[in-house]
Amino acid sequence: MTTKPETILAHLTDIHFPQKPVPSLAELSFKRFFGLLNWHLSRKSMHLAETLEAVTKDVLAQTFNHLIVSGDLVNLSLRQEYTTALPWLERFGSPSGLSFVPGNHDYYGPTSFLTSARPPNLSDEADIPMSRSKDLLPFMTSDDKGGELGGATGPDLPFVRVVNDVALIGLNSGVPTPLFTAYGRLNENSLDALGHILNACKEADLYRCVILHHPPLPGITTLSRGLQNDHLLQALLREAGAELVLYGHNHKQHHEKLTTNHGVCHIVGTPSASIGFNSRYEFARYNLFSIQRLPDGWTTKMQGRGLQENYGSVVDLGTTELV
Ligand SMILES: [Fe+2]
Ligand SMILES: [Fe+2]
Repeated sequence: MTTKPETILAHLTDIHFPQKPVPSLAELSFKRFFGLLNWHLSRKSMHLAETLEAVTKDVLAQTFNHLIVSGDLVNLSLRQEYTTALPWLERFGSPSGLSFVPGNHDYYGPTSFLTSARPPNLSDEADIPMSRSKDLLPFMTSDDKGGELGGATGPDLPFVRVVNDVALIGLNSGVPTPLFTAYGRLNENSLDALGHILNACKEADLYRCVILHHPPLPGITTLSRGLQNDHLLQALLREAGAELVLYGHNHKQHHEKLTTNHGVCHIVGTPSASIGFNSRYEFARYNLFSIQRLPDGWTTKMQGRGLQENYGSVVDLGTTELV
């Protein structure tokens, strides 16, 4: 009997690209002012360029089929930050091999780079179609097979990409939020589309990996930083099923299981990929997921790679099978 090949996904998140953000006068807002303060008083001592470089080189030395970056690519969502961060994304190869979904730091207010074209008459909290820069668009676009499975081919998410027999389903949970909050939300259209996509992928006998920035289930974080409609997403996942959900936002390694009508769904949160000095969050880490079809289902193994000490180098953090 021949063994089916593995599909390996590398998951990095919360890059908080380490660079000094400098908003122009037109870009400055209360939220950005406090974000800037937070960068100087706290984040810049944790998110280190040398740590991100060590993680990047370690990722590039691995064998994988697809790379996932689940948001908070930058800190204040300034055009200037993306100008530096985009070439970093491009170091991993063509956009067809890398999927990106936005986080709250990629939606830092009405003048955020990702929302710069939003209509001015909408409140900060209105659900809006995402306005994506042409530079980021290639990392968030359905491929041909994904389009046939219901993935968006227009300006909004979810996108669907098919890698071997794994479907990657990218959601946008980022919305501009008021000062001192970092919550997310999935708009109604996205939730509707997700239900159809999960069913279509099940029908096509694909492994379903859902990607979003915010924790997908209630209770993983506080209300002011959680996904506002996580109960709806949880119900949808229970009903339609998925094999794996990857998220970031908490800067913590976390694994829990959700029982669905179609088996167990593994929910995995990954820490930030750039924390080299540990004050209150976990050290930089990324995860490699090896997915293989079995006669009666799927097997998923997770290997962690990251730092174990301040200013440390990247080491193997062990492999576990998600069961
Ligand atoms: Fe973050
Ligand atoms: Fe976040």
